[in-house]
Amino acid sequence: MRGVGARWLARRAAGAASRTARAAPSDEAATSSLSRVSAAPSFAASRGRAFAPSRARAFASGPGDAPAGARNPIGWKSLALTFATGGGLLYAFEAQRARRLDALQQTVGPSAGRAALGGHFALRCANADGAPFNTADLKGKYALLYFGFTMCPDICPDELEKMAEAVNLVRKSAAAEPVVPVFVSIDPERDTVPRVKAYVKEFHPDLIGLTGSVEACKEAAKKYKVYYHKTSDDADDYLVDHSIIMYLVDKRGDFVTFYGKNYTAEEMANAILEQMKRLG
Ligand code: NI
Repeated sequence: MRGVGARWLARRAAGAASRTARAAPSDEAATSSLSRVSAAPSFAASRGRAFAPSRARAFASGPGDAPAGARNPIGWKSLALTFATGGGLLYAFEAQRARRLDALQQTVGPSAGRAALGGHFALRCANADGAPFNTADLKGKYALLYFGFTMCPDICPDELEKMAEAVNLVRKSAAAEPVVPVFVSIDPERDTVPRVKAYVKEFHPDLIGLTGSVEACKEAAKKYKVYYHKTSDDADDYLVDHSIIMYLVDKRGDFVTFYGKNYTAEEMANAILEQMKRLG
């Protein structure tokens, strides 16, 4: 697994198991099934291993074991998603995702004005053991911001791997400007400084991990119109539904554009290089 330690894989598997047990099919659960279906071969192979135990459990409690009449719609749904290979389901999810991106584009697109989104925020830098950090400190460098949480079973790790890959690809180009990847926690109650510090190291040596008070993280997310929502009131056992977006910020700290989950690392790197060419 590229840069992802065994403990995160274990956590992903555990998260997937608890997710399977959950009644509410979240957006992230749906898209994660989709990502497993459409993942590149190497990813799919490793995911298969990582998810094997939880899948086995899901299947064991599925329709085969259920008494007649006691149907489990969630079980059926995940089964169908797991095995869908380009049929109507996949199309439906693609269409839904495209609609969401369109909606976001309208919110943050040129017509809404660039000032409507972005801006500096102050949090704690996990890499520096919780020292105060203001995104204004990134002046002179491009930043790629991603908002997520360390206990996210698969979406966040996938996106952060992609982010690391994109940053490495950008840096290979002779035309590249300096670019820094940044992870911002939207689960500050569990994402402590030591936890975020250990987490970001798994993905890229330069990945900056930011966390802070509930209020400060909320303020940061609000600036970028990041949607996030806990899936349970349980103090410790919950997932966080959240928007899956990378935000490109220029050398002055101004928001430039964003990249949805549909971008590959290569596509994102090329798009970032285009922006660098345009903005300098
Ligand atoms: Ni996530």
